[in-house]
Amino acid sequence: MEIKRVGVVGCGLMGAGIVEVCALGGYQVVVSEVDDDLLKRGLSRLETSMQRGVQRGKLAEADAAAARKRIRGTTNLSDLASSDLIIEAVVENMHLKKEVYRTLDDVCPPETIFASNTSSLSITEMASVTKRRERFLGIHFFNPVPVMKLVELIRGLQTSEDTMKTGRRFATSLGKTVVVCKDSPGFIVNLLLIPYLLDSVRALELGIATKEDIDTAIVLGLAHPMGPLTLLDYVGIDTTYFIAEAMFQEFKDTRYAAPPLMKQMVLAGLHGRKSGRGFYDYSEGK
Ligand code: 3HC
Repeated sequence: MEIKRVGVVGCGLMGAGIVEVCALGGYQVVVSEVDDDLLKRGLSRLETSMQRGVQRGKLAEADAAAARKRIRGTTNLSDLASSDLIIEAVVENMHLKKEVYRTLDDVCPPETIFASNTSSLSITEMASVTKRRERFLGIHFFNPVPVMKLVELIRGLQTSEDTMKTGRRFATSLGKTVVVCKDSPGFIVNLLLIPYLLDSVRALELGIATKEDIDTAIVLGLAHPMGPLTLLDYVGIDTTYFIAEAMFQEFKDTRYAAPPLMKQMVLAGLHGRKSGRGFYDYSEGK
């Protein structure tokens, strides 16, 4: 099946990045948010990212201008009904995701492919609320989406070979490298990343070192682009907490149990860079 029109549900950190790479890849994109305010914020995040791409010489202004023309925002999920592929990027909440898929399943023709950008929730479970289980897969992007080269393609229990082929062609057309994974919590990257991130918070809680020294140790000792606490602020402490919780529920393994400090930070609204403060302070001028 040839993909021409892409629908994206959610214009948060990941959704906005997905819209950007799809529009730059030549696809017509309709993106939905729950209200005008969130839609405006998401689209302005996307605009900032494209401008950064232009400033860094990664993106021609003419290509950015052409991409802008391919993007349409909406607050009505039904406006995604004419898409060939719909990528859902709403918060990591199975109940909410199922609601989205039930609504979409009713308004979309049977050939529309559904994909989730979930980091950790079951593709098979999401597909189970639709009548298109063979045309349902995981397409997992990484943050920042325009920069990170990887896409994990997740095969649900009932995903067809054709759907996987279409997903691979699509992700490759965006300039991404594809790895394939079965429907297992955390897939490849988060299976390995989440215990590491949680351990860095435990190290901080135990007073093993300062946050700065934990981050510096990993940046200089392992040549990672960011230390784990900076990365947590970057990905979102709330998002990482939801992913860890989902993985803990599935595996019942304490490696995935979020440390108390993380839960407290989520409840206190210290969600990282996007909220202005996490482990570090991102308020004006900092
Ligand atoms: N469009 C295109 N290219 C862009 C861009 C944009 N909007 N913004 C930046 N770039 C390019 C830059 O030109 C630069 O390219 P170069 O290396 O060829 O010069 C490169 O991207 C790096 O950008 P910057 O110089 O602005 O920034 P930094 O060097 O400080 O890197 C970073 C920023 C890319 C975020 C880097 O710190 C990094 O890779 N961090 C780790 C990110 C990571 O691990 N992400 C995965 C998180 S896990 C996840 O997402 C899974 C989820 O399920 C939780």
